[in-house]
Amino acid sequence: MKKFQIAVDGPASSGKSTVAKLVAQDLGLLYLDTGAMYRAATYVALRDQLETAEAVIAVLEKEAVRFKNAEGGQLVFLGDEDVTSAIRQNDVTNQVSKWAAEPAIRDFFVAEQRKIAEISGIIMDGRDIGTVVLPEADLKIYLIASVDERAERRYKENLAKGIPTDLTALKQEIAARDEKDMNRKTAPLKQAEDAVLLDSTGKTIEQVVEFIEEKAKGLM
Ligand code: C5P
Repeated sequence: MKKFQIAVDGPASSGKSTVAKLVAQDLGLLYLDTGAMYRAATYVALRDQLETAEAVIAVLEKEAVRFKNAEGGQLVFLGDEDVTSAIRQNDVTNQVSKWAAEPAIRDFFVAEQRKIAEISGIIMDGRDIGTVVLPEADLKIYLIASVDERAERRYKENLAKGIPTDLTALKQEIAARDEKDMNRKTAPLKQAEDAVLLDSTGKTIEQVVEFIEEKAKGLM
């Protein structure tokens, strides 16, 4: 039987993962950060200097992307290697849209994401969850915020993680990544027809979480 599913999509740094993690905790759902999968694929390409999607997939088949819950949050592993921090660095962030546009890489991860959704009730965040991965999701949220606010949030996050960041460059990077994600041929970022649009500009994390939980509880 289909389990309860929430899809959260939206542009870069709109707060999807922060909010989805909290909703997962409160409602007892599994949380899946699909962006981390595309980031891990990009990390593989950079680490091993690979040029084709097929070569990247061959590595991912041997060194699977896995998530482990830890005290400070979720850890991301590639085989036995902890890549939690490496996949958030600027080199990966600046290349990820290119690899995420590769149809073979998308097929590979979408199959895995659907398999994970069979295990348990889930909240998944990404770009194509409501449109492609979980088209039958019980609740679909399309989370947006102004570029300025998203850049400020990411700036603070990066500082806290010790990732050197320039705010102006960050705004450009976010806008460029959205552009690429929205205009690619396969599974572009767009609001699903049945998704609820939620603009988090000027809203606190708590307000956004509460909004989603209210909607979800009405459907569970
Ligand atoms: O969510 P996050 O910003 O970590 O995602 C990194 C990148 O991975 C996005 O910019 C996008 O190119 C890609 N992505 C995707 N489909 C998803 C999740 C992420 O194409 N479902």
